[in-house]
Amino acid sequence: MEQLVQHLNVFLSNVAVLHRKLQNYHWNITGPHFFTLHKKLEEYYEQANEDVDVVAEEILKLQGQPLATMESYLKAATLKEPGNKKVTVEEVVSDLLVDFEAMKKEIIAIKEEAEDKKVYEVSTMADDFIAEYSKTLWMLRQAYRE
Ligand SMILES: [Fe+2]
Repeated sequence: MEQLVQHLNVFLSNVAVLHRKLQNYHWNITGPHFFTLHKKLEEYYEQANEDVDVVAEEILKLQGQPLATMESYLKAATLKEPGNKKVTVEEVVSDLLVDFEAMKKEIIAIKEEAEDKKVYEVSTMADDFIAEYSKTLWMLRQAYRE
């Protein structure tokens, strides 16, 4: 169980970094797609903010200790932060495709581990994230990569 909690804490850290990144992009995106993506990125970071809470509380239900500080998130996360600067649509979309793909892979691995250990509540939670990231990846590709 300890290892599952540890993996959930890495995932939690990634969701927290993703949240910060999405709001950063919401502020700093430039170009003709500004109005559309500015609004869409707000939707995404609001979702990520809710997701942080869901994962942290799942860890608590397992009697684990969720990471809760910015310092620990940056240390544990595998996602990288962008800088404090303006970004283009191309930069945002290609970076987010990589990140959402990585998040989907990570939560699928957590689901598999949870099933092995018969921790079905974590497996069920993972389903929602898999659906969320799959939809986001499909929409981003449909809008900007087809
Ligand atoms: Fe805003």
